[in-house]
Amino acid sequence: MEHATAIVTGACGGIGCEVSRALAAAHDVVGIFHGATEAARAEWRAQCGAAGTLVQADLTDHAATTAVMQAIITARGAPSVLVNCAGITNDAMFRKMRFEQWEQVIRTNLIALFSTTQPVFSAMCEAGTGVVINIGSVNGERGQAGQCNYAAAKAGLHGFTMSLAREGARYGVRAVTVSPGYTQTPMIDAIREDVRDAIRLQIPMQRFADPSEIAATVSFLSSPGAAYITGADIPVNGGLHIG
Ligand code: CAA
Repeated sequence: MEHATAIVTGACGGIGCEVSRALAAAHDVVGIFHGATEAARAEWRAQCGAAGTLVQADLTDHAATTAVMQAIITARGAPSVLVNCAGITNDAMFRKMRFEQWEQVIRTNLIALFSTTQPVFSAMCEAGTGVVINIGSVNGERGQAGQCNYAAAKAGLHGFTMSLAREGARYGVRAVTVSPGYTQTPMIDAIREDVRDAIRLQIPMQRFADPSEIAATVSFLSSPGAAYITGADIPVNGGLHIG
């Protein structure tokens, strides 16, 4: 049987690579990357096998991104799964934050969702099946000093998920947010060590997530067992935010 297609943005990132690997068990995965090194791309190919394809796109370029998504749909038909995993941080206390930091993070983490999702969601609705999984953050649910831009984008992302779920339900298309806590990726390594240690102590489980723990949740949400889950925000955060 031909595999269904799953598209993962931010595919070569810490979480994106693990998500791609997990989905590759049951899908042909198309990974969208932007600035990934050759080593990161080689790692992705090794993880995703022969059925994996990497495509480059700058998600802040609306026309280019729409064209890339449309080309994938034309070649393969409606994807079964879209995981919006691409995201950046550019942390600063709000009083010191430059407008460019605000704009860059909101453009990449929130505005780009329009360009990646609209073509795919339309195709899914026409096909009568599919799921859009948006990667949020614990800090979109609870806020974080130094992340007014990132938390605003991630909270907005879940508003997008909830609305998409309401529009997609009648077509058999689901939308779900997965909100990871602090996850062992280069994004975490970039936090100053003393700040990072203090954050770890706030987590009831006293450790950061492994990317595979986020990928396992995404994998379940894309499986038939999750057929009745839509519009939800699934926390995977070691207890950092409960409620
Ligand atoms: N709450 C309130 N105030 C805080 C604070 C907090 N959590 N942390 C620091 N402050 C205060 C400090 O006490 C300090 O106050 P004073 O000037 O009165 O002493 C002031 O804010 C400045 O603090 P810093 O010295 O830390 O400021 P900085 O400019 O050197 O660094 C920062 C700012 C880069 C934002 C740094 O604080 C930082 O890295 N914070 C962590 C941000 C964070 O959690 N990022 C997550 C990245 S990973 C990710 O985003 C993935 C995900 O989804 C979870």
